[in-house]
Amino acid sequence: MSEPREIRNLTLAGFMGVGKSSVGRLVAAELRFEFVDTDELIESRTGVKITEIFARFGEPAFRKFENDLVAEMAGWSGRVISTGGGLVVNPDNLASLKSHSLVACLWATPETVYQRTKHQTHRPLLQEPDPLGKIRTLLAAREAAYKNCDVLVNTEQRSVKEIAAHVLHNFRAAVQHPPRM
Ligand code: S3P
Repeated sequence: MSEPREIRNLTLAGFMGVGKSSVGRLVAAELRFEFVDTDELIESRTGVKITEIFARFGEPAFRKFENDLVAEMAGWSGRVISTGGGLVVNPDNLASLKSHSLVACLWATPETVYQRTKHQTHRPLLQEPDPLGKIRTLLAAREAAYKNCDVLVNTEQRSVKEIAAHVLHNFRAAVQHPPRM
C-alpha cells in the first residue's frame, strides 16, 4: 500500500503549446490559489531567459533548475503550478509532485501543437528547421511519462474554459478522495 496523498496543490503538465498557462490562470482564479509558472519562476530567479539558459549553459543546467524547484514545491500549498513541458519526464519530479498535488496533463496532437507554436520564438527545443518533425519525435518519446500523470485531458476542440472546468472537477474530487500514487 502506498502512502495516502495530501492534495494541497494542482499541477498542470503536458507538452509545449497545450495551454497549461491559460488553463492554469483560470483554475487558480476559481480556486483562489496562487498561480506559478516554472519557466517564469526560473527566469525571474536567474534573471536569464529560458532560451539564454539553454544557449549559454545547456539543457542539463536548465533541468537542474527545474529539479531544484520541484524539491522546493513539496513545502507549498494553495498553488496552481504550470510546469515546463519536459519537467515531468523525469520520474522523480513526477513522483514528488504527486506527493502534494494532483497532476493533470493536457494533451494535444503534434499538428495542433505546431499550429499553436509556429510563430513563437521563446522555446529553444522548437527552433529547428523541421519543428513539426521535432514535435512528433519529442511527443512520442514523452508519451509514456505524460500518461503516468493522474489525469490526461484532451484539449482538442475544447475551449480553455471547458478544459479548466474539467480540471477543476478532477481536482475537487481528488481533494475529497486522493488517488493512489
Ligand atoms: C520545454 C518546454 C518549455 C520550457 C523549455 C523546455 C520542454 O516550457 O520549459 O523550453 O522540454 O518541453 P513550455 O511547455 O511552457 O513551453
